[in-house]
Formats: sequence, structure tokens, C-alpha cells
Amino acid sequence: MGELIAVLSGKGGTGKTSVCAGIATALSQMGNKVLCVDCDIGLRNLDIALGISELGAISFLDVCRGDYDVSMASHHPVYPNLQFLTAPMNCPAGDIDPLEFARMLNKARKKFNYILLDAPAGIEAGFRLAAKAADRIILVTGPDPASIRDARQAAQVLEQMGKKNIRLIVNRISKKMAAALNLTVDDIMDEAGLPLLGLVPEDEQVVLAAAFHQPLLGYGKKGAAAACRRIAKRIEGHFVPVLKVIK
Ligand SMILES: Nc1ncnc2c1ncn2[C@@H]1O[C@H](COP(=O)(O)OP(=O)(O)O)[C@@H](O)[C@H]1O
Ligand SMILES: [Mg+2]
Repeated sequence: MGELIAVLSGKGGTGKTSVCAGIATALSQMGNKVLCVDCDIGLRNLDIALGISELGAISFLDVCRGDYDVSMASHHPVYPNLQFLTAPMNCPAGDIDPLEFARMLNKARKKFNYILLDAPAGIEAGFRLAAKAADRIILVTGPDPASIRDARQAAQVLEQMGKKNIRLIVNRISKKMAAALNLTVDDIMDEAGLPLLGLVPEDEQVVLAAAFHQPLLGYGKKGAAAACRRIAKRIEGHFVPVLKVIK
């Protein structure tokens, strides 16, 4: 049975979509069958982060409603093991039937090794929809105090929902900023009250890859791309030391 991973945050713009696309690509390159689901209804952009914005894609709502089987999700042209369902444009998250959504994901578990859900910002309906189904939750934060506080609040909501396997990714960190903030891995974990899954550095290639319609892992080999590969290995159960971006 495949594992369901929800990529969440409290604050918006922390890098959920970029990190979700990077990890999904890395997991698929490691030989896994991966399904990526954009859950950011109305503001979808996982297709951009995957470098496939110019391809048409069926939405998860089309699958929930039984118009398509989940195995018909679009194949990534560069990574054939990676499949993708986009988010519907005009359907409030509160109108998605959680039972239909869960049924779709249960079918997907039988066909994929990993299913990654890229959630919207905030702790509203879309957050809950993705979190409820997940076996493992990744909270993406920036190194700034507002994102870390929002991650902590999101973690509290998740704990109230009975979720257990929650880990943190700190995105957009640089040596310079970490030094200026005198930030350590322990400080971040203490602040957010969560164990760390990984650090992703600030890297202009994230923006450039998206602008040139490329998946990050096809565009860059170091920086954020390498960090996503390291995180994917940890998800697979390998020991990989944390990048030495901060103390
Ligand atoms: N590690 C990074 N380095 C540089 N820019 C990044 C990084 N991660 C994300 N970004 C940029 O930040 C913006 C928000 O990222 P996105 O992944 O869309 O966040 P979210 O899904 O949380 O809203 C995008 O323009 C993206 O290109
Ligand atoms: Mg997003």
C-alpha cells in the first residue's frame, strides 16, 4: 500500500508547492510510482513547479466524481513514474465530498508508492482535507519567526485532529541569514515543537526552473534540488545528515 504525504504550512508562500514538486520528482527518480495531487483549489500552481503547465491535466475532482480512474492521472513527460492531478478551478474546498476524496486516495494507495498532496495555505477546509487523509505530514516553514509560529499553530491543529507523524522542513534558509539570526536546528525544532525532516536553501533555481517551464530537479543539481533529493532519501528511510546550512 502506498504512503500518503500531505505537504502543509500555516503561513502562505513558505514553499509547499516547490518542495512538494521537488520531493515528488526525487521519489519518482528513485524508482517509486508517485502521484502528486494539487489541492490548492482556485490557486493551483503545482503544474508550474513540476514544469508541466503547458500540458492539460485532469483534476482530482474529475476522479472523485468517477469521470476518470486515478491511474489515468497525467504522466510527467520527463519522469514517467510521476503522475499528476490538478486542482479544480471553481469548487470551494468545503464542497469537496471528503468521502469521495478518501475513496480516490484509497484507490491511489493501491497503484502508487507515494501520494503527495500539495495543500493550500491556512488551516481551513483544504488544509483539513489533505491532513485528514495523510499518513505522514510535512509542514513547510521559512526561517522567519512568523512562519515558524504559524507552523507551530498548524501542528497544534493537526495534533487535535489526532495526527502524529508530523515533521518540519525549513525552506529558503541561507548561511548568511542563519548566522545573522544565530539560528540552530535545535532552536527551530524547539520553536515549532516539531522534529526536522530537512532544510532547503534559498536558491534562485527554484524561480528560474518554474519560469523556464522546467522541473527543479531537471534544471538544477545542487542547492534546493539536492536538498529535495536528500529529503526523499530520508522519507525512504535512509540516514542522510542535515545540510550544513545552519549550526
Ligand atoms: N528554496 C527556495 N529558494 C528560492 N525561492 C523559492 C524557494 N522555495 C520557494 N521559492 C519561491 O517562493 C514562492 C512561493 O513558493 P511556493 O512553492 O509557491 O509556496 P506555497 O506553495 O507555500 O505558496 C515561489 O515564487 C517560489 O518560486
Ligand atoms: Mg502552493
